[in-house]
Amino acid sequence: MRLAGVALVLLSVGCAKDSERAASAREALAPDVLAGVLRASPLPPVPVDPTNAFADDPRAAHFGRVLFYDERFSANGEISCATCHDPDLGWADGSVTAAGLSSFGLHTPSLWNVAHNRWFFWDGRADTLWSQAVEPWEHPNEMGGDRVSFVRLLAADEELSGLYTELFGPLPDVQGWPATAKPVSGGGSHPMQMAWDEMSEESQEAATRVIVNLAKSVAAFERLIVTSETAFDRYVRGLRDGDPEDLSALGPEELHGMELFFSDARCHLCHHGPFFTDLEFHDVRLPYETGADGEPVREMGRWDGIQAVLKSPLNSEGVYSDSPAGEGEGGPVISGSAHGHLEYLLRSTHTKGEFKTPGLRNVGKTAPYTHRGIYESLEQVIAHYSELADAPPKRHEDVEEILVPVHLAEVEVAALAAFLRSLDSPYAGSELRPLNVD
Ligand code: HEC
Ligand code: HEC
Repeated sequence: MRLAGVALVLLSVGCAKDSERAASAREALAPDVLAGVLRASPLPPVPVDPTNAFADDPRAAHFGRVLFYDERFSANGEISCATCHDPDLGWADGSVTAAGLSSFGLHTPSLWNVAHNRWFFWDGRADTLWSQAVEPWEHPNEMGGDRVSFVRLLAADEELSGLYTELFGPLPDVQGWPATAKPVSGGGSHPMQMAWDEMSEESQEAATRVIVNLAKSVAAFERLIVTSETAFDRYVRGLRDGDPEDLSALGPEELHGMELFFSDARCHLCHHGPFFTDLEFHDVRLPYETGADGEPVREMGRWDGIQAVLKSPLNSEGVYSDSPAGEGEGGPVISGSAHGHLEYLLRSTHTKGEFKTPGLRNVGKTAPYTHRGIYESLEQVIAHYSELADAPPKRHEDVEEILVPVHLAEVEVAALAAFLRSLDSPYAGSELRPLNVD
């Protein structure tokens, strides 16, 4: 009893000290900085996805992992999702722009924490993680596969067909189907489209159901690609519990960068919350690319993305969604989800040229940056925001008003970059690597 009493006294002394330390560390920050910092940590759990009944099925995640690394789902048998989303390169490819079957002018985004997104692709033209995956498999620049070949591939491979049928039941009978076929956007006379048009509606629906099931499995796998605790998270824990070791996780330069990020540098106006993104779209006025005709290329970005997601037969409200009405068995739809929000999408002129705000966790590991990979370093990105010296003239009247030059001194650029690097997580995702190498 006596011992316990002593221990209790010691403990409460410790607590008093810790809570005092926490309070004074919090008081050292301006109130708006403190509010932004506390909102950014810790990470919430991966949100439920009622549109994917297999989202949290470990068997689906296992199958999805196998598929993610399988090069046979490409037209030349040499490209898998991991070719461009390599765990050793931050689930991206380290290149300026991606190269699949042919190169295309977009930078590969990292897949860290991807399941927390509301929209997918730089222009947000997919509103679920699973519907996103269908596009790279079939896109002529990426993997160039097709859903009919995929059914044949599954049927001919014992391991794949075993994994598939255990989850989704028997594969459709491909007798009488063309060898290859898929819907091709704008491709009325494309041989794949013509073969597709010859299939019965029932067969088309059966083949689409299969690629959707594969995509839902890949999505279940992608939900596991989650960053671990960072120096920043330890510091924020320190702000709450006063542990001196936690509080010292960020040094003076990183703290300076953090204060700038959440105040004068205005970064938090678009990059906020636990993933440092508002999950929405903005035009940060990157320099235009010059087209073949010598004219600046004015990308449409979100303007086209909105049109595409509304038209897509694979959107969250279509027949392939497991919860087309916007509700689900899986629990409440979290506020971050786009699910059930398509009707509110407004295609106004300011969406022209807007791209998705990327999350910034692990950003130190995923250079180069932006949707065209035009900046090699974090310092270059920050220099752009500082003066907007390389920005083209404003595109239209109602262009982004949040974005103004913030005029940073060189030490401030360095401090912001140091802060961003404190968001790098040590976890490398080793158990998410290909099965045959672990
Ligand atoms: C040839 C390289 C390449 C391959 C192969 C590839 N991707 Fe991507 N991925 C990209 C690029 C580039 C983008 C951005 C394209 C865009 O926004 O239009 C992207 C975007 C994504 C996104 C959206 C991320 C976000 O935050 O919006 C996800 C998820 C994704 N890919 C998963 C996959 C999966 C799953 C596969 C395999 C089925 C795959 N990718 C195959 C290059 C590739
Ligand atoms: C108006 C909203 C907005 C503001 C303010 C803003 N950003 Fe961004 N940020 C974005 C968007 C949108 C992109 C993607 C742009 C693109 O690729 O077209 C981006 C891209 C980035 C990237 C590249 C990430 C990657 O993975 O490619 C970094 C780093 C970044 N911002 C950091 C910052 C910092 C630091 C600040 C403050 C100095 C800041 N941002 C201010 C919206 C904003």
